Amino acid sequence: MSASMEAAKEKFVAVIEKQLARIEKMKAEREFIDYTTLDTIIIGVCGGDGIGPAITKASKRILEFLLADELESGKVVFKDIEGLTIENRVKAGKAIPDDVLTELKACHVILKGPTTTPRAGDPWPNIESANVAMRKELDLFANVRPVRVPEQGIDWTFFRENTEGAYAVGSEGLHFNEDLAIDFTVTTQEGSERIARAAFEYAKKNGKTRVTAVTKANVIKTTDGKFLNICKEVAKDYPGIELDDWYIDIMTAKLVDEKRRTQFQVLVLPNLYGDILTDEAAEFQGGVGTAGSSNLGKRYAMFEAIHGSAPRMVAEGRDIYADPCSMIRAAAMLLSHIGYGEKAEKLEKALDFCMYQEKKLVITGRDTGATGEEFADYVMETIAAQ
Ligand code: IPM
Ligand code: MG
Repeated sequence: MSASMEAAKEKFVAVIEKQLARIEKMKAEREFIDYTTLDTIIIGVCGGDGIGPAITKASKRILEFLLADELESGKVVFKDIEGLTIENRVKAGKAIPDDVLTELKACHVILKGPTTTPRAGDPWPNIESANVAMRKELDLFANVRPVRVPEQGIDWTFFRENTEGAYAVGSEGLHFNEDLAIDFTVTTQEGSERIARAAFEYAKKNGKTRVTAVTKANVIKTTDGKFLNICKEVAKDYPGIELDDWYIDIMTAKLVDEKRRTQFQVLVLPNLYGDILTDEAAEFQGGVGTAGSSNLGKRYAMFEAIHGSAPRMVAEGRDIYADPCSMIRAAAMLLSHIGYGEKAEKLEKALDFCMYQEKKLVITGRDTGATGEEFADYVMETIAAQ
């Protein structure tokens, strides 16, 4: 056997071994953390890079405002985490530098700004995305992304699997030779079951009657096939909630079908399809700049915008005009996750009022509109007046 064939075999064995180890870890951690039992909830705040620090700061101020009493009593503390910048990550040669990871792991929940995702041709090495690495390191398996446009009857909650699929080994594919490159896609029993269960549990708690699984199981038969089968198995435990099954290609089309799209409620899907479909979905709501997301695990949870770090805005000196609404939505999701549902509702209501009703200040991304800080003030004034 040639040396490169031997190396390829070893690589494949290593991929399998790493996934088997991950499965053992998943099996060992079955219980969700209960925030009500904690004396102190530690909220890590990680600005990221690009427009991240600006929009994260605006969102953190709102959290401080809403959690003033809890901060005072020590029930909640904030911990600023610096260093998740592209420069530091390149210097450490890692998606997340070790010291940053240690700090992240000392928190319960994290509010995270966008981080620049390297790609081939950039001035820095093509290291793994910090987002993807954090989701894997903290085992944040459920990426929950709500999209709502009430006047059009759109009320969707996406449960994107966040640690597997094409992303699990996305930065460790095989360049066999000049002619051949191979990536790996991973589906596990445990990983699919926990995301399917999260989607059905959400549906049950929120009075939803339908969960839609989105795959390409007719072509990607092994991994997507397994994902879909597990969704069908899990569905049996939830009588009264119907499971329907769609392929990703036709689903992207049906989201623009005004008659059909209002019928979707909760959607559960593998990582890559979830990434793509949630950007499309957010567009109906006003674009990715308006959408927050939660990344939930059993021990940790992280809340972020669904968009990138927009380095061009920073290069043009426009980061102060970046729209913080996605990060403010993320803050609302954080509040609700740690047990402050009422505060989260207040924030959501005020944000809707500022963004879609009163619109006293408008964000344009340029000096023709408000700054993110001014918009945050506007949201806080609105809450105070509620
Ligand atoms: C998202 C983003 C990330 C992803 C990127 C930045 C790696 O697009 O959160 O959807 O692909 O998951
Ligand atoms: Mg995306």
